[in-house]
Amino acid sequence: MKNKIIAISNQKGGVGKTTTAINLSTALAAIGEKVLIIDLDPQGNASTGLGIDYQSRNNSIYKVLASQCNLLDAIQNTEIENLKIIPSTVDLSGIEPELAEVNDRAFTLKKILSDQNSLNDFSFIFIDCPPALSLLTVMAMTAAHSIIVPLQCEFFALEGLSQLIKTIDRVKQNLNQNLTIDGIVLTMFDGRNKLSSQVADDVKKHLSQQVYETIIPRNVRVSEAPSFGMPALIYDQKAAGSQAYLRLADEIIRQNKEQEAA
Ligand SMILES: Nc1ncnc2c1ncn2[C@@H]1O[C@H](COP(=O)(O)OP(=O)(O)OP(=O)(O)O)[C@@H](O)[C@H]1O
Ligand SMILES: [Mg+2]
Repeated sequence: MKNKIIAISNQKGGVGKTTTAINLSTALAAIGEKVLIIDLDPQGNASTGLGIDYQSRNNSIYKVLASQCNLLDAIQNTEIENLKIIPSTVDLSGIEPELAEVNDRAFTLKKILSDQNSLNDFSFIFIDCPPALSLLTVMAMTAAHSIIVPLQCEFFALEGLSQLIKTIDRVKQNLNQNLTIDGIVLTMFDGRNKLSSQVADDVKKHLSQQVYETIIPRNVRVSEAPSFGMPALIYDQKAAGSQAYLRLADEIIRQNKEQEAA
């Protein structure tokens, strides 16, 4: 089995990258897929949201990138069957100067991932990116097969998207020829808010084939879940947000089958 590596990226902060990484992974794990999340954000929100406390982050993605720890030793179980994580710590914010002397540093993560045949046990590897077009994000895009872009349904949503797409194009040209955008997922949709619907319509009109059918609604249960160290899907499976992530997982599985058949 060959894994698919997907970077979840948008340099805009707070648009639902981590929430999507956690809940999409959980939804895929629930239907039997073996999933790994790499928390590539020094904020460590994906680690916290999956209940990995600070004491248990001795082997982190920072240490892996800094060659202080083997990748396989950094992979941890979560409470969810089939879902594992490489956690992150604040040290990660200091990795750029540390890699300054390294040749091809954009390839650091790619090299580490491609050295490990046992990663083929996973069908999906999601990389939760930080909110910046930094070396970490470029490393994620270089290591990934594809990108999912969460986009918040609000007025400034499209601002910055062209810069993100420019960065993706540059990575494609220089570092990772086969990189593709799997799709844009609209998040935090509020049906009572006219603007939310307008943004969703606008995005669908302008970026038609690249937008997932599933729209993630704004849902208080989704925002509560991380403080309990649980995915929304475990905290309240029936919540509208949880159900939406299950539908998104179905869409991704379908898309993946189509891509493999092509
Ligand atoms: N569907 C949703 N309904 C309600 N709240 C949500 C939803 N999705 C995300 N949130 C909340 O919005 C905030 C930002 O979400 P999240 O942390 O996933 O974004 P992010 O893009 O990863 O942020 P950052 O750029 O800081 O990494 C969080 O408090 C999260 O709980
Ligand atoms: Mg995040």
